[in-house]
Amino acid sequence: MSRWKFVGRTDELNRLLAAVTGEAGRGLFFSGSAGIGKSRLLREGVATLPSDRYAIWSIAASATTAALPFGGLVQVLPAEQPQGLSPAGILRWALDVLQQQAAGRRIVLAIDDAHLLDPPSAALVHLVARTENATVVGTLRDGEQIPLPIRALWTDDLVEHVELTPMPPAETAGLLAEILGGPVDAGSADRLGRLSSGNPLLLRELVHAATGSEELKRTYGIWKWTGRLELAPNLTDLIDTRVGQLTDGVRAVGELVAFGEPLGLHLLNQAADQADVEMAEERGLITVMQHDRRTNVRLAHPLYGEVLRRRCPVSRTRRLQARLAELLEQVGKRRRDDLLRVAVWRLDSGTAQDPALLVDAAVQAFTRYDVPLATRLARAALDADGGSDAAELLATILMFADRPDEAIDVLDAVTPEPDDERRLCRWLTVRGMVSYWGLSQESTVEEIASRAEQISDSAGRARVHAFEAIMRLHRLDTTAAVRLSQRVLDRPAAGVAARELARSTIAYVQAARGELTRSGAAIAQVHSAAASWRTDMPYLQLALELARGTRLMLTCDLAGIDAIVADEFADLAGAGDFRLGTGYLAILQAYAARLRGQSDTAMRTSLGACAVLATSRVYAGLAQAERAQSAALRGDATQAAAAMAEADRTHAPGMAVLYPWLEQARGATLATSGDLPGAVKHLGDLVDRLRADNFAGHEVHVLHDLVRLDQASMAVGPTCSDGGRRTVAQRLAELSERVDGVLPPLLARHGRAAATDSTTDLLAVADDYAALELTVFAAEATAQAAQRLRRQQSAAANDARERLAGLLGRCDLIRTPALNAGVPVLTEREWQVARLAAHGAPSRAIAERLYLSARTVENHLQRIYSKLGVTGRTELWAALRSIPGHEGGDVG
Ligand SMILES: Nc1ncnc2c1ncn2[C@@H]1O[C@H](COP(=O)(O)OP(=O)(O)OP(=O)(O)O)[C@@H](O)[C@H]1O
Ligand SMILES: [Mg+2]
Repeated sequence: MSRWKFVGRTDELNRLLAAVTGEAGRGLFFSGSAGIGKSRLLREGVATLPSDRYAIWSIAASATTAALPFGGLVQVLPAEQPQGLSPAGILRWALDVLQQQAAGRRIVLAIDDAHLLDPPSAALVHLVARTENATVVGTLRDGEQIPLPIRALWTDDLVEHVELTPMPPAETAGLLAEILGGPVDAGSADRLGRLSSGNPLLLRELVHAATGSEELKRTYGIWKWTGRLELAPNLTDLIDTRVGQLTDGVRAVGELVAFGEPLGLHLLNQAADQADVEMAEERGLITVMQHDRRTNVRLAHPLYGEVLRRRCPVSRTRRLQARLAELLEQVGKRRRDDLLRVAVWRLDSGTAQDPALLVDAAVQAFTRYDVPLATRLARAALDADGGSDAAELLATILMFADRPDEAIDVLDAVTPEPDDERRLCRWLTVRGMVSYWGLSQESTVEEIASRAEQISDSAGRARVHAFEAIMRLHRLDTTAAVRLSQRVLDRPAAGVAARELARSTIAYVQAARGELTRSGAAIAQVHSAAASWRTDMPYLQLALELARGTRLMLTCDLAGIDAIVADEFADLAGAGDFRLGTGYLAILQAYAARLRGQSDTAMRTSLGACAVLATSRVYAGLAQAERAQSAALRGDATQAAAAMAEADRTHAPGMAVLYPWLEQARGATLATSGDLPGAVKHLGDLVDRLRADNFAGHEVHVLHDLVRLDQASMAVGPTCSDGGRRTVAQRLAELSERVDGVLPPLLARHGRAAATDSTTDLLAVADDYAALELTVFAAEATAQAAQRLRRQQSAAANDARERLAGLLGRCDLIRTPALNAGVPVLTEREWQVARLAAHGAPSRAIAERLYLSARTVENHLQRIYSKLGVTGRTELWAALRSIPGHEGGDVG
């Protein structure tokens, strides 16, 4: 803490206080160059907040905390973090902790140097900013890379972002007097003020440099500076010179803090001479502060750390880090973070020799989803003779980092002895996972199956069987998958992770078969047991997410999708580099946007999913299929075809169970390219295949795709006992009795209304779709009604068109075959005339504007009316707006 008073900055201070205490509760971030006064301003502002109304956490991110997951928030989070949480779970837990401690007061997070936050901390800060009853304020240094969740704070409008400008001359003069502890002669103040360019730190360093010299003298109580500097010196150079002049002992103190901050005072006192520690504090190099019953030491300014670390030779750096690790080990690791800190120091100093420590630390980094750090630690553990535990951990982490080949090499180097069954089971499953999903080796299933038979330990066997089952599910061997999973569940010896994995497999199959209620119950069960399986089998999360996502998509539960996306903070997770599951959540998000007609979001999100999943052999094909669907929704045949080709190229045979989504997308792609017969044939075949696979949950959707292509009366499926074949509408009606939920009966009603040309029913179905936010389906059913009414030359056609225009108005650009069907084709000229007329221009005005005769305009209008099936100008507006892609808005 600086010894001098705070000077000036009144407007900025008020602005900061208003940001916290104001009605909107929108936070504020100050940006600015190094030393301009951001941290001090933040500290002063926060210090004036009354603690009875605000629960305030002040966080100083630093280069050392940036290396640890949640390192930036050690001062905020309780020492003990619950085990077995997902990334989202950790974030939620942290938020709950803050809420509890706030006890009803408004939460204020003040983050100094937010650009140095580690990714999970940054994600949490973003989450807090989004919370009601919380405000985030902070500082950022110019020119630094800013973590995405922090940048998103102002792009999402959660905080204001203000550039902190240099101090005006009057304020630098005041500051100078504070620093020197007495009045300063006006000329000196003016010169030093200009040399510092209004930068307080530079001013302070200038004074420091001159202190004790002839240049800076106090005469009759007035300070006078006679230095000869003409140009403003560089701040870093100045600090560099100062650091260079420190005694060895004081510099050693600075260095220990630079590599270890925040560092406990007791540790520092053990590592360095107490007199030097005191001198370092005296000299303003370090500051000592009390936090959470600990006395911590930090550098007085981050720039000192930057200079100290840069000046420190590699060999010395390593020695310091090893010393820090030793010290912390000696006093005993008190917080969970201490373990990670020690491990990272050991790693960085090349003294990592304790495999148990490294494995523990790697597990911790991995459960915090810091994949790069977890990889380094696990590899070090293996190198330190960590044996099979280290190898399995490293292989798992490598698999999630899309490096399956390396993972296999690691595993094959530690093949277990056949009689060590427990180990063998774990090894087999990890290896199986890497080889099946990572390397797409389908023969893995048979290998695993035959090895499982040789295992006598019942629990171990159950674990292997649960893996075999989910592999079989993925390659579409559904019956065997269910049978095996059931066996695992029936076996009392099976462990929690094996059971819940088996349950996820069954939940997936239930969803695909249309048993959506039972599937939902199973998913809830797996979810609620998460704390008991996550540490043992973190990747079970993916199986759970796949089952849950599939079920939500099949029920078209858009609110449910919103909820899990919000719950898992998908966008945040992505920004925080929690890759696990992020891509899959993006697919779900794109799907929900697509069904709502938000084709811009659908396109953007599905492209994002493709990017995240590009290197994954698991969901890449699914992401491309979703992108094809989004493109098809917009009528973009070229992109749809390109995405479909990518889907085929990237889709792994080991993910065959996802075929319904890919083939549905292929249908949409064909339809959008104008090949309706091809699309219809393809979807008809798909219905047959789904029926053979007993995937009724999927089949209703494909049947509905046929209804959307106006094929409700088409025959599908096998010949029945009555000698005839069912129509699409009939099959939908049949399935609506078997597939759970409110959607199938609605789809069936749509089919029947389309087959019987019942326009009233089509419009009623559309209303029900709209109520479920299935806006595209609603618009299509309305378009089908409008088309039929126009054919019947019914007066109600105009009303239907109005409704269609209203629905399309809620969507981004959407252009599907159902919406295009029966849409009249106007010539370029007719469009011009029609738009002007719809905007109320009289024929004469139109004629003048288009250089036509009034008579020609009249002729055009008559043709337009008859093409659109309207009686006059009053209906023109709605008719034009009901044509997809032509909101009728722009004239010309
Ligand atoms: N208004 C002020 N009144 C008194 N002292 C100030 C004022 N502004 C800054 N200082 C002092 O100047 C020094 C540099 O300020 P500060 O640490 O806030 O800079 P910063 O902008 O946070 O720099 P960085 O980007 O490097 O973190 C500190 O010692 C601080 O106490
Ligand atoms: Mg600062």
